[in-house]
Amino acid sequence: MKIKYKKIGVFTSGGDSPGMNAAIRAVVRTAMNYGITVYGIERGYEGLIDNKIVELKSKDVSGIIQRGGTFLGSARSQRFRTAEGREIAYKNVINKGIEGIVAIGGDGTFTGASIFHKEFKFPIIGLPGTIDNDISGTDITIGYDTALNTVIEAIDKIKDTAGSHNRLFFVEVMGRDAGFIALNAGIATGAEDILIPETVTYMDDLIITLRENKRKGKTSAIIIVAEGDDMGGAYEVAAKVKEIDNSYSTRVSVLGHMQRGGSPSATDRVLASVLGYEAVTALIKGYQCHMVGQIDKKIVYTPLEDAIKTPTQIDKSKLKIARFLSV
Ligand code: F6P
Repeated sequence: MKIKYKKIGVFTSGGDSPGMNAAIRAVVRTAMNYGITVYGIERGYEGLIDNKIVELKSKDVSGIIQRGGTFLGSARSQRFRTAEGREIAYKNVINKGIEGIVAIGGDGTFTGASIFHKEFKFPIIGLPGTIDNDISGTDITIGYDTALNTVIEAIDKIKDTAGSHNRLFFVEVMGRDAGFIALNAGIATGAEDILIPETVTYMDDLIITLRENKRKGKTSAIIIVAEGDDMGGAYEVAAKVKEIDNSYSTRVSVLGHMQRGGSPSATDRVLASVLGYEAVTALIKGYQCHMVGQIDKKIVYTPLEDAIKTPTQIDKSKLKIARFLSV
């Protein structure tokens, strides 16, 4: 294989997710195997603008496959949204002799990447790294599996205390625009109801579900609320329920950023390693502005714009399954 690249860069951007370190490691080691020098860019687009770009050697990525977070740091860059910011970033990249970049992140990262490619014709390959799982062109995103398991572990514990005190718990999980974590954590923990941004939430339905549960003898309940649900977050939903029916001993638990941390699961480590390898291979093959994902165990290249433009399909029929199984 003829390799035109001599130097490439890698960064992580947006909300961090478990497995990002494993992906960086895979990019660095794959590139080095092909004789390509790799530069790590700190804090995503911020580091591109501030010229925080350092060469990474194999030993720099040893011992990180099991670590959560991202050792390169991450950020949501406002400056990269401006033409001036992108101009500076481009100059820094060219001065370093970098000819292509692997960008690991979610929708914001890919939006920036595709604008950068359009403006400068600069090759940039995206890897889906977000706990939200809201990216098209891959079955799952790097970090989603770990986050889901973290949430399940937390809800299992909440269930214990909910049962002991006969309480109704509203548990808020992450997902500004997507309900993947809420839906699948709900099924996996047997939650009494699951409220997600992809469907309209009706208070009447929720009240019926709660009363039905009570009638059948259930003394406690877990309602999972994705943070982006149309009725609001867990505190708002709990308050609205209380206005209608004050008979419950209610508590709210917002799981927050613990969902983004922690050692990546086996699934995320393997996915990140394979996609990291494939990202470098994609650059070498000549892909210019694509995301590398995996669908049905096959590597798939999706134009960056499509990965974020096409709405990700959540399987709404699973809500029905969840309801059938929890009552
Ligand atoms: O992008 C992932 C995500 O976890 C969203 O679900 C959440 O809304 C957001 O990040 C919060 O991110 P931050 O607090 O870092 O702005």
